[in-house]
Amino acid sequence: MSVANHFKLLGRDGEARTGVLTTLHGEVRTPAFMPVGTAGAMKGIHWREIRETGADIVLGNTYHLMLRPTAERIAALGGLQKFTGWNGPMLTDSGGFQVMSLSKLRKVTEEGVRFKSHIDGAVLDLTPERAIEVQRLFGSDIAMQLDECVRLPATGAEVERAMQLSLRWAERCKCAFEGAPSGHMLFGIVQGGDVAQLRRQSAAALGEIGFHGYAIGGLAVGEPQEVMLSMIEESAPLLPQDRPRYLMGVGTPDDMIEAIARGIDMFDCVLPTRNGRHGHAFTRRGVVNLRNARHADDPRPLDEESPWLPARSYSRAYLHHLVKAGEALGAMLLSEINIAYFQTLMNGVRQAIAEGTFADFRASTKAGWAGGDL
Ligand code: GUN
Repeated sequence: MSVANHFKLLGRDGEARTGVLTTLHGEVRTPAFMPVGTAGAMKGIHWREIRETGADIVLGNTYHLMLRPTAERIAALGGLQKFTGWNGPMLTDSGGFQVMSLSKLRKVTEEGVRFKSHIDGAVLDLTPERAIEVQRLFGSDIAMQLDECVRLPATGAEVERAMQLSLRWAERCKCAFEGAPSGHMLFGIVQGGDVAQLRRQSAAALGEIGFHGYAIGGLAVGEPQEVMLSMIEESAPLLPQDRPRYLMGVGTPDDMIEAIARGIDMFDCVLPTRNGRHGHAFTRRGVVNLRNARHADDPRPLDEESPWLPARSYSRAYLHHLVKAGEALGAMLLSEINIAYFQTLMNGVRQAIAEGTFADFRASTKAGWAGGDL
């Protein structure tokens, strides 16, 4: 059965693309960076600020939310948007990443994954069908297929087994998704580790099954950046050109610029919030470690030209003090400053692609990072 297309490509510059994805809760401008709110909350940032940074869409996690507060409770309370108060587009990941990150707490079979809850040890069975049911109970605008993400390095046999299993689960997820209310979307996930031929096979087979969009998973899991980029080069050209492409769990600003240059449209990553909590700020001139004593007497802001007020108003000395004193405000400010930086970067990228100046934008942005902090 053909799958409705909610993605409109507005421009191209080389392989880089800009477009808009229409969801039931609003439009997502691409390339897009999705901040991660694993358990239905952004760590230390109010939704209002997330919206003000320019984020169109956020990500939540099936595994965490089905454990607590449970999918049935979220459904009874009106779905994820009503429950959390974020009333924009939301994508939920399927639990496939936790197959890797919680590898000591789970068992994979043909049927699905059996997790032992990281909270109380209770048994939790996640099959492809249940992953779709749960995401439907959430009311997710974009649901992800259940897959098996493998940490690298791994043997060719291991990544092939997981890729083939993920393909069979893709078929089952597609069947389980039939009859979903119109406007909701399901994305398939390319796997295949660092083996080019497996990546090509996975991408082509998913395209045949037919999804609203396509993710590339199993990357940024221990391999060098050049391997990640070459796996994108193998997969992206085989995915349907008119559908959005999402690189999961990536990444650094440099990873994103390079992936966009290879045709990627969407990203998610915990980096801006996690690194913010550790005292690191992302700026036009690279990463600034505010724990460093050199900031203790520095009255200058992080970046006087930032469009985000806290990045150009608070002094480095104050941010350093907050981080050193372990004040919650330090983590909150740096998390929002970092998300704002990622969104500013996506804005610049979208504009450059639309104007046909992406190559210059890519070079000058990278030169800014390489120039170092002033
Ligand atoms: N997040 C980052 N990588 C992956 C992946 O391979 N699969 C899923 N489901 N989520 C991810």
